[in-house]
Amino acid sequence: MTKDDVLAILINSDGYISGETISSRIGVTRAAVNGAVKALKTDGCIITSVTNRGYKLESCPDKLFAGEVYSYLDEQRRSSIICVASTDSTNNMLKEMLKDSPVSGTCIIANEQTGGRGRMGRTFISPPDTGIYMSMILRPEGSFTDMSEITAWTAVAVHNAILSAYGINTDIKWVNDLFLGGKKTTGILTELSIEGEIGVVSNVIVGIGINVNQSRDSFPEELRDIATSLSAGSGTAKLNRARLAAEVIKELDRMMTLWPQGKEQYLETYRNCCLTIGKDVDVINYSTGVSRPGRALDVNPDFSLKVIFEDGHTEDVRSGEVSVRRR
Ligand code: BTN
Repeated sequence: MTKDDVLAILINSDGYISGETISSRIGVTRAAVNGAVKALKTDGCIITSVTNRGYKLESCPDKLFAGEVYSYLDEQRRSSIICVASTDSTNNMLKEMLKDSPVSGTCIIANEQTGGRGRMGRTFISPPDTGIYMSMILRPEGSFTDMSEITAWTAVAVHNAILSAYGINTDIKWVNDLFLGGKKTTGILTELSIEGEIGVVSNVIVGIGINVNQSRDSFPEELRDIATSLSAGSGTAKLNRARLAAEVIKELDRMMTLWPQGKEQYLETYRNCCLTIGKDVDVINYSTGVSRPGRALDVNPDFSLKVIFEDGHTEDVRSGEVSVRRR
């Protein structure tokens, strides 16, 4: 949309930029640029215009507008990125789009989710203006079994993105939660669609929810000791969400160029950041809810978790929930 491209240009301009320059850069008429500026003002952007100098963006509300995300990305990457103000769940929205065969890398980013979903049928609380809720379609080659690794690779990709966007070093809790100061900041929900009886994975939807700017008090009382945001957890002021959303896209794109041959580097970062290793844990079976106490020993080359149980036997845990016991 012209409006998004105009906003991206205004954000990246140092001072005033003429309507003519904008129109030639994006290949639309001057009238279309005027219309886009009007629409951006309606959205709450403050844009000043001076005769013979052009337009200047003074401020833009923190709404995770597409143009903000675009301003950090190459032009050719922008066309398959959709930003919405609100949706029930970005994973659901992408699933709906699958019937139109969207290109791999298609991504939806929302400023709010009204029905955000987590693993094990849980809710992912997704308030407006503070978090990032995004999902991307991936088509990695490999069998159904290989796909469990995508989830761990994604945790590393998001860890890397947070580090490059904000310099914040998050921990990974097996298998794919990101923690800061012992509290959860990020959850990842990977959903697969399988083709026919041969078990080929046709699409992987990775859904990522990041608490970025929530204050401690904005979390429900029962979550305050177990969840945090990147700004609250690092003691920083408001963080730029569009910057991180764009960085996550870049890291997921990079991950796909390295899949599967770049495994060593993902495994190494995963092990270095994994807070579960060496801890007393409870391994909870998804379907029965049965919990077994043990100690996490290591992350195996296939990203399963090596656990020694109280009776002395070891197991490679591939699914289920592993919670770290608090001392
Ligand atoms: C978890 O922690 O259990 C996983 C949470 C995953 C949340 C993200 S937010 C974007 C995408 N849309 C959803 O409904 N869920 C995922």
